Amino acid sequence: MNDLDSLVQQARAAFDAAPTAAELENAKARFLGKSGSLTELLKGLAALAPEAKKARGAEINKAKQQVEALLGAARERLAQAELEAQLRAEALDVTLPGRTRGTGGLHPVSRTIERIEAIFSSMGFEVAEGPEIETDWMSFTALNNPENHPARSMQDTFYVELKDASGRWLNLRPHTSPMQVRYARAHAARHAGKTESGQPMPEVRVIAPGRVYRVDSDATHSPMFHQIEGLWLGENVSFKDLKVTFASLVREFFETEDFDVRFRPSFFPFTEPSAEIDIRFGSGPLAGRWLEVAGSGQVHPTVVRNFGLDPEQHIGFAFGIGADRFAMLRYGIDDLRLMFDGDLRFLAQFR
Ligand code: DAH
Repeated sequence: MNDLDSLVQQARAAFDAAPTAAELENAKARFLGKSGSLTELLKGLAALAPEAKKARGAEINKAKQQVEALLGAARERLAQAELEAQLRAEALDVTLPGRTRGTGGLHPVSRTIERIEAIFSSMGFEVAEGPEIETDWMSFTALNNPENHPARSMQDTFYVELKDASGRWLNLRPHTSPMQVRYARAHAARHAGKTESGQPMPEVRVIAPGRVYRVDSDATHSPMFHQIEGLWLGENVSFKDLKVTFASLVREFFETEDFDVRFRPSFFPFTEPSAEIDIRFGSGPLAGRWLEVAGSGQVHPTVVRNFGLDPEQHIGFAFGIGADRFAMLRYGIDDLRLMFDGDLRFLAQFR
């Protein structure tokens, strides 16, 4: 191998070894730069005789062209590698899940109310809804809460700066019980005059779920919460029917047979006698504790009269279920406020 061939070999090795464009340019200078080896050889021609100069010049130029070709190839290779690296860095992973809107879901209280509605519907109850801003008469007076009677303070009511036709402040209903009055009066009006045909008036069997409001706020009370009112009036509907109805609700709602229901004497102006309904599970995380879940009682004759019905003919019971309580028991939630904070980390668990 002559000196020019070995120079071309050295250039090839140096260009191949250059990891970056900058280092390739350094290597180039060693061969083709101002004082690079090829440049130096060309300068040396001056000392040769004309014949030798021509032959040697042609050889050096050939070697120089080979080195330039190698340099071009090396530049090309580095540019290609750089492009590939960039493409790799900017690559999109098309298998990543896209940004979606997220699936919504029903709130645990809505789920609870829907379940309870389905269970009562299967027992022949209608579902009714009514206003959250109520008149004084509907929230209190019709329910045998005489004006200025201390029993009115059982609920710390929110009032609205608007008066009804009789000049009394409207209220944010503190319970769903006014729906007993609204529904029973509509029922009585619908069937008025029809009883003489010999057909008795159909029974009133209704539940009315909805939001209620009280000036109250801690771990177990919220200024807004949910109740489900129930009313069953017939010729002779009794506490026995109430107990059977309630036990059916608990059995189906909590999907267990292992529980007891008890009535604990209490007071409500609109029922006589009145009772709190407690339930106790025989197994599971809540086993053995009595849990208060509803108020109830036999509808007071004065209230039946306010329905526009005869208390001698229409006898029955009413109840008010704490819907949030049912939701908390079913899902094992221990702080009522979680339900109304709107925190998605909590709510997403019910999707
Ligand atoms: N309205 C009562 C309350 O909010 C609950 C209640 C008790 C409703 C007895 C009833 C009933 O229908 O009969 O505390």
